[in-house]
Amino acid sequence: MAKIAVLGSGTGSNFQALVEEFGDEIVLVISDQPGAGILEKAKAFGIPTAVEVGGADLSARILKRLGGVDLICLAGYMRLVKEPLLSAFPNRILNIHPSLLPKYPGKAAWEQALADQAEVTGCTVHYVDAGIDTGEVILQEKVEVLIDDTATTLHARIQIAEHRVYPQAVKRVLKKMSGRV
Ligand code: GAR
Repeated sequence: MAKIAVLGSGTGSNFQALVEEFGDEIVLVISDQPGAGILEKAKAFGIPTAVEVGGADLSARILKRLGGVDLICLAGYMRLVKEPLLSAFPNRILNIHPSLLPKYPGKAAWEQALADQAEVTGCTVHYVDAGIDTGEVILQEKVEVLIDDTATTLHARIQIAEHRVYPQAVKRVLKKMSGRV
């Protein structure tokens, strides 16, 4: 059985999709936002939580909490992961991003897609490296942009795809890791 930690800053809908698939393999949730919905959701599931707010040594503080963890899933985590965390988890940190990377990295990717008048966008699960949404792609799903889409409606449809894709991608990575976990 793998031990997975989830890092998030927001409402935690992707975290919930992961819990529904992986249950008690999710052993810890860390947020940089003390009031984040993801923490409330984790508590409701009985999963231990921690808050680590920003600061120069954030990645080092997070690393100290991850003894025994095999895999880190970023789920709406709006900060860059840095050293020493990156080197401690090589190919063991995943992120979900609301676009078909390499298109629209960074914040509010669905708004970028609308501003670009894209006909198709989607979501991507990728390995995390030192860049902003630059790591190797694991899985993507397309989402059509509708003519009357607003930022809210488009993001909502992308999130439905995210909740399908993230558990599938994590399964794929855990399978690759098996033998080591
Ligand atoms: C998700 O749409 C995720 O793709 C996005 O934040 C949202 C979090 O929602 N992440 C990024 O934009 C990262 N660059 P959630 O808290 O409901 O999972």
